[in-house]
Amino acid sequence: MLNSIKQNLIRRFIVLLHRMVEVLKVSKIGIDKAAMKGAQIIRKGGLVAFPTETVYGLGANALDEDSVTKIFDVKGRPPDNPLIVHVSSTEQLDLLWQEVPEVAYKLIETFWPGPLTIVLPKTEIVPYRVTGGLDTIAVRMPKNTIALRLIEYSEVPIAAPSANKSGRPSPTKAEDVVKDLGDSIDLVIDGGPTEVGVESTVLDLTKDPPTILRPGGLSLEEIKKVVPNVTLHPAVLNKFLGRPESPGMRYRHYAPEIPLILVSEKYLVEVINDVLKKYEKVGLITLSTPKYLPDVSNLVIRSFRNDIKAMARNLFSTLREFEEIGLDAIIAVAPPKEGIGLAIYNRLKKAATDIKE
Ligand code: TXA
Ligand code: MG
Repeated sequence: MLNSIKQNLIRRFIVLLHRMVEVLKVSKIGIDKAAMKGAQIIRKGGLVAFPTETVYGLGANALDEDSVTKIFDVKGRPPDNPLIVHVSSTEQLDLLWQEVPEVAYKLIETFWPGPLTIVLPKTEIVPYRVTGGLDTIAVRMPKNTIALRLIEYSEVPIAAPSANKSGRPSPTKAEDVVKDLGDSIDLVIDGGPTEVGVESTVLDLTKDPPTILRPGGLSLEEIKKVVPNVTLHPAVLNKFLGRPESPGMRYRHYAPEIPLILVSEKYLVEVINDVLKKYEKVGLITLSTPKYLPDVSNLVIRSFRNDIKAMARNLFSTLREFEEIGLDAIIAVAPPKEGIGLAIYNRLKKAATDIKE
């Protein structure tokens, strides 16, 4: 009896020591109430994690240097890696971009709100802290009502990187945010799992031809319909290449704490046999289950039955899950590099500790 009281007290003490963040479930309190509460915090200079259609973002007032500095601090983000600024209406663009060229109008009309981030020269009002010292700024309008209301009620554009510790897989559910940042931010708005699962496509319109710096939720093929001469930055398909245009290209990214081996299907059997010699329990993530798999019991398989959207939606949560259930390594089979498959391939390449293709 005395023992259980003691244990209870200790447990409570531990909870108090770990200041856990408040989590507002939109399914319980409604979008408006959650967005209002979040907006109050943003206006006071705090940090609010919120869902977008791609991944969860960690938001702060984009026009306030001190608020933005907190984002870098809690994520452990290198200061030269610029943030994306989120808007809820095109009227906010004049505040952020020097001008809006014709091609940007066309893209915005076709793809916003949605997973397309556009880079253009910034105005003076935008702190260099947001852009990592660059004279350009990345802006997008997310396709998520919670996010849009939060921005609207805050009455300022919101700077928001993915709400993970720097270098980790992006969070696609509120619990991921709490695990990574729970004791250092002010609020998490829980809107359930995100739809797309990989981040927005980053398109640099200051380059001629317009250049995709990061493939994402909106495919190259779709963008080509509006901007026929759009190109892919070479770093998209490579682990690292020369001087990065987008400072985010430089680091190991999107990565679980265990080794990740990216492999093309033709080397799969060989790699599985190799990896199982070194590691006891291994996870396999693949678009479809290959016909010839070695008969091994300690291989945990996540296959998406050829549904590439499902693979994108579940990519980061699977990497996190594999780590949480105590696997020793992950093997990922490279998906086709088309549509959203290109974004998946890019993330796996940046996360990989080893590549065989
Ligand atoms: O889907 C998304 O884009 C999510 C949600 C929360 O909106 N956000 C996101 O932010 O992925 P973050 O910080 O994790 O990634 C931002 C990317 C980085 O690769 C960064 O280098 C690039 O955008 N970026 C931002 N500003 C840039 C600029 N001015 N020039 C070039 N690249 C820029
Ligand atoms: Mg990120």
